[in-house]
Amino acid sequence: MEKGFILWFTGLSGAGKTTISKALEPELKARGCKVEILDGDVVRTHLSKGLGFSKEDRDTNIRRIGFVAHLLSRNGVVAITAAISPYRAIRDEIRAMEPNFVEVYVKAPLATCEARDVKGLYAKARAGEIKGFTGIDDPYEEPLNPEIVCDTDCDSVAESVEKILTKLELLGYI
Ligand code: ADX
Repeated sequence: MEKGFILWFTGLSGAGKTTISKALEPELKARGCKVEILDGDVVRTHLSKGLGFSKEDRDTNIRRIGFVAHLLSRNGVVAITAAISPYRAIRDEIRAMEPNFVEVYVKAPLATCEARDVKGLYAKARAGEIKGFTGIDDPYEEPLNPEIVCDTDCDSVAESVEKILTKLELLGYI
């Protein structure tokens, strides 16, 4: 059986988690990996439907994602998660439960994410129409020791994908 692992993306909304994970998927499949993406936006329409964005609800969302990712990874699947996962303690809790855990910090300055404003949500948060928006009036705790940092302000999607593949090879996962 192929070796499964969790590739845990974390970063602000609009930093590039979904984009990079989607670009990475075919590259991993081409190398013989089974891949499943657990994307925050998608998970919140199914597994975490009804949850909001309080700390408690975010923690519940992330624990659910971590649990499913763990089930997948132990069965030889590369479980890619793409949720903001703003709280360090919960990310580290999942790291502690999962021996094969690779954290990818998808890093972009708030100003960049806000300028991109792909979903128009930063504008709404600034206008006070959304309360508790990550980076605006809700915390984002940066990882202290991520295995990989993708600096999406400077690096292209292809460069980020290449960086992740190189590190996964180095770590012996692919
Ligand atoms: S997490 O904090 O629980 O990890 P998750 O990644 O699932 O968040 O969902 C984040 C997405 O929900 C954002 O990309 C955005 O589209 C949407 N969203 C809606 N309200 C908020 C909010 N208050 N803070 C952050 N994202 C929000």
